[in-house]
Formats: sequence, structure tokens, C-alpha cells
Amino acid sequence: MATPIIELQAVGKSFRSADGTSRTVLDGVDFTLHEGEIVALLGQSGSGKSTMLRIMAGLTGADKGQVLYHGMPLYGAARGIRMVFQSFALFPWLTVQKNVELGLEAQGVPEAERERRSAAVIDLIGLSGFEGALPRELSGGMRQRVGIARALVMEPEVLLMDEAFSALDVLTGERLREDILELWEAGKIPTKAILVVSHNIEEAVMMADRVLVFASNPGRVRSELAIGLPRPREDDKLEVRALIDEVYGMMTAGAARPGRTTEKEAKLQLGDRLPPVNIARIEGVLELLTDERHHGRADLPQLGEDTELTDAQLLDVSIVLALLGFANLAHGDITVTPLGEQYVAAGNQERQALFGRQLLEHVPLVAYICHSLAQDSSGDLPEELFLRLLRFTLNAEEATSTLRVAIEWGRYADLFEYTFNTGTIHLPSADAAHES
Ligand SMILES: Nc1ncnc2c1ncn2[C@@H]1O[C@H](COP(=O)(O)OP(=O)(O)OP(=O)(O)O)[C@@H](O)[C@H]1O
Ligand SMILES: [Mg+2]
Repeated sequence: MATPIIELQAVGKSFRSADGTSRTVLDGVDFTLHEGEIVALLGQSGSGKSTMLRIMAGLTGADKGQVLYHGMPLYGAARGIRMVFQSFALFPWLTVQKNVELGLEAQGVPEAERERRSAAVIDLIGLSGFEGALPRELSGGMRQRVGIARALVMEPEVLLMDEAFSALDVLTGERLREDILELWEAGKIPTKAILVVSHNIEEAVMMADRVLVFASNPGRVRSELAIGLPRPREDDKLEVRALIDEVYGMMTAGAARPGRTTEKEAKLQLGDRLPPVNIARIEGVLELLTDERHHGRADLPQLGEDTELTDAQLLDVSIVLALLGFANLAHGDITVTPLGEQYVAAGNQERQALFGRQLLEHVPLVAYICHSLAQDSSGDLPEELFLRLLRFTLNAEEATSTLRVAIEWGRYADLFEYTFNTGTIHLPSADAAHES
């Protein structure tokens, strides 16, 4: 049995927003990070991954449950746990070496030892020769390396990496990731466990011994997959491709055809976030899927390559297609339904009508807006009304984005209109209906 280092037991966390309402971000999170493992954490934006990492690092307290570090409750930031963020605030007036030494200086480590340790880490992370450079003289990838060096120089027992590679271009990110794995495999760093948050499914499968998928609203661990392959892994190996497929399947599970699964997430609720997917993307992917190359079916990773969408974008559009009944998702595959085929074959007006019908049936927010407009004598309502409703369950940014999506979809289906200047939503005018 591997030794636990950090344990989260039934951890919960809520935040209070500006208007005083409280929002549960994490609920019932159970997770143990063991000695000797790399764990990857995947999940939708806003599902609480960063919050969970901050709690594990002792930077934020949990409101519910327990956080144990070596079996003892964790109070405040622990020396052995270091976090690496997506972008670093390097001090622009300090050299690479001085930036790396900051944490050691704060701990009162004598100068000679600081220099020795920072030189060793700078060398390890591939920045030799740049000790005296200022941050502005470095590329993005090199700056990120400085950030990682800053964490490594503290010789942390646990490294928590929050999208540490995602601000970098693909190749730079891959190289940096490979370098870290090499240091880990060769035992050149004293770190005993690594947790990485990623938006990239392939990255997670290439790095981790375990992949966890987070559920949203509230955030909690939904599923987990063990990856028993030795590292370094080759991304074109069959086993690796199969695991990547499986993780896609885990990430889209429950978003498969409503009614087909008992999971609560299968059916949208009124206050749920809508993925930011526009009509052009929905139609583009549906048309691509039904072309003579795909014949109505595709493997999601393959579709990602064909469309050049990021994992997040691809998952969003796939989930929307499934929610609307235009496709089914299972085991990392997407299959167009007869309704989806009918949609592609239809002309503009029929497409609009089909889309509208599916919206009213499967997207409660759109149905709610239509219903409210129909009930109101003026047939004209401020968007603020719906935003306020969404803010009960979503943060301000998600609420705005969700309403924008609902409005775009509803306008396309001609269910309602929107006046930008006044921010009002109204029923389509009778004139417009006659003209069309
Ligand atoms: N200090 C805070 N005050 C209020 N709300 C917060 C705070 N920190 C996070 N939140 C909210 O908690 C939710 C989860 O945020 P978090 O950053 O943990 O998500 P995430 O999964 O890391 O998302 P992403 O993938 O976009 O980084 C969001 O709705 C966010 O707005
Ligand atoms: Mg985050």
C-alpha cells in the first residue's frame, strides 16, 4: 500500500459573492495523494480545480471536511508543498537567479547555500547560461521554467502544478513536461508526489499514474482511471490512444443522450452553465461528422485533430450536440443521431425550426425565457432579470456567458429577439414572422 501524503476527506468550500449569496464550489471532495505517484486532474472550467489545489497547498482553508498532511491536520501553507501556477509574477528587476532564490531567502537560507542550490536547479531545468538574465529577456517557455525552478529549489515533497504548461505553445509545453518527467523518473528531484491540473487530455494520459475527472456544480471527483503504462510514453502507441479515448469517454459521460443515464448531470437544469458554443461551430462539427469521410461517426480525439479544436472546445461542442439530441456520446466516440442527419439535410428554415424545438425541450433556460416573454404583457423583458436568476447558481462571468449563449441560440431559432442597446429580450415581431 502506498503511503498517503495529503488526504482530503469530504472537503467542501463555498464563496460568498458581492451580492451576499453563497455559492458552493466544492462539496464532498475525497482524494488522497500518495507517495510515488503523479496524478492528473481534469474538469470543466470553473469546476473548482484551482480551489482544490489551493486548499491542498494550505493557501485557502476548507469550510467542511478535513485536510491531512502526513496524517495531521494541515494549517496554513506547508513548507513541503509547493504550487506552480499557469503564469508567474516574476520580479522584472531581479535576475533569473535572484528570482529563483526568493523562497530560500525568505527562509533565511545563507547566501552561499542559496547560490549553490539555485545554480543546481537552474541547470536541472535547462536554464544554464541565463542566471544573470532579466525576465524580459526570456521567452515564455523560459519564464515558465524559472517559475518551476522557483518551486523546485525549495525541494518540495509535493508539487502541485496548476496548468503549468497551458500558457505555452504546444511544442514548448511538451518539452517542458518531458523534462519534468525525466527529472522525476531519474529521481533527480526529491519530490515524492505531483498533482497536475490540465485542460489537455493527452497531457494527462502521458504524465499521470491516475487521471481524475472532476464534476462541476459543485466540484467533486466524479471518476478516476489508473494508467499502468511505464514512462516515457509514446503518444502514438495503441494503448495510449485507447486510454485517451477512455478519458474522453469519462469526460463526456452523463452528457450522453438525456434519459439514457441516471446521472443527474445528464439533463440540464435551469441554472446550469451552458457551454460557450456558437451556431457556426455546432453546424460545422455536425456537417463534418456527416461527410463522406466520417459517415456519421468519429472517435473524439480524431475529431479533435480534424477540427483543430482544443479539448475544451471539442468537449463543449460534443456535449451540446448530445444535449440537443443531434449526437450520442459513448466510450470516447460521437455518433450522429437520425435527428442530427435530418438537421444537416434540411434547408435553413427547417434547421431553425428543428433547433428551436430541441432548445425548448432540452435547454430549460431558453424555455424559461420564452415562457416569461409570453406571460409578460409587453412581451419585452430586460436581460438583467435572467442574469439575476443565473447568479444564484453561477458566478458573474459564467452567468453572463451562459445568458449570451442562450440568447444566441434562441435568436438563431427565432424564438426571441434581442436588442443590444437596451439589453432587452422580446418575442419575435409579427411583421418579421410574416416576412419570412
Ligand atoms: N476567492 C474567490 N472568491 C469567490 N469566488 C471564487 C474565488 N476563487 C474561486 N472562486 C469561484 O469558484 C469557482 C471555481 O473556481 P476555480 O478557479 O477553482 O475553478 P477551476 O476548475 O480551476 O477553473 P479553470 O479551469 O477555469 O481554471 C469559480 O466559479 C470561481 O469564480
Ligand atoms: Mg483553475
